[in-house]
Amino acid sequence: MIKIELVTGDSLIELPKIQDESIDLIITDPPYNLSKDYGKTKDNLEFEEYLEFSKEWLTECKRILKKSGTIYVFMGFRYISYIYDILSRHLNMNFVNWISWHYTQGIGKTKGFSPRHDDILMFSKLPNYKFNLDNIRVPQKYYRSINNMRGANPGDVWEFSHVHYCNDNRQKHPTQKPEGLIERMVLASSNEGDVVLDPFSGSGTTLRVCQQLSRNCIGIEINPEYINMASCRLQKPFTGFDSVDPRMERIPFDLNDEIIRNEYITNHIKWFLKNHEGSMDKFMKQVNEVYYKKTLKKNSLFDD
Ligand SMILES: C[S@@+](CC[C@H](N)C(=O)[O-])C[C@H]1O[C@@H](n2cnc3c(N)ncnc32)[C@H](O)[C@@H]1O
Repeated sequence: MIKIELVTGDSLIELPKIQDESIDLIITDPPYNLSKDYGKTKDNLEFEEYLEFSKEWLTECKRILKKSGTIYVFMGFRYISYIYDILSRHLNMNFVNWISWHYTQGIGKTKGFSPRHDDILMFSKLPNYKFNLDNIRVPQKYYRSINNMRGANPGDVWEFSHVHYCNDNRQKHPTQKPEGLIERMVLASSNEGDVVLDPFSGSGTTLRVCQQLSRNCIGIEINPEYINMASCRLQKPFTGFDSVDPRMERIPFDLNDEIIRNEYITNHIKWFLKNHEGSMDKFMKQVNEVYYKKTLKKNSLFDD
């Protein structure tokens, strides 16, 4: 039985209460210090003050992470290089990836280019960290007998749209993250029964994903209203994660052999669309477009 725990409080006070080397994975999306209104906290600290705050909670994260553990930190462009410096030089952690989360919509700038990505730093405590590649593969573009049809490595540019205002899962939180994105981190860097921590849990995205993927999870959040929001979210019936990498909905273009194609379609659903029931229709539409419509056309030409 897994445990999903919500802690109301300041991470600077709550993190020191956690035992050394007791956490398998930390996923966190701290305030970016860009003057967002989170109700309870000031998101406009002085530059040095923000770096001190970051250093303090990141130092605690390193202490509580297991030797095989990983940390993912979301960050905006203004501070990311400084956060990288804290993780790499100050804490001497092991750099793994600098991931770009590419989103298709966002604010429009009139001078300069409109921002369309946030970045995520992935560091491990030591070089020998957990990484389950087979659990996070994405479908191949082409069927080739030499290709691993279980899929390709997703790479370090991840496309997920923001959770739209009309999505049933949309919460009243200014910076809610897409579940599909967190799902990839949880699947890659933890196993069932592991302990995941989110020190700035907001609307509870990491907790919701862990609940569905059978991981234990602790979320710390300073604003009690967001704690209530997360608690309600955790009680809702699950109908699939609210976002998906669009590559999951595509079918290879050259599955010409019908036996291989049918076997692939069954595997595709099992491998890539588990927890993404909402993508089934789109995937089957793709199958139909790429294969059956074409076949029908060909047959009707023959009939003529
Ligand atoms: C960027 S948001 C996290 C959003 C979250 N990933 C989600 O999907 O909803 C950062 C959160 O950190 C909380 N926060 C700010 N300072 C905090 C602190 N010192 N301790 C704990 N939580 C804090 C804010 O209230 C806010 O909800």
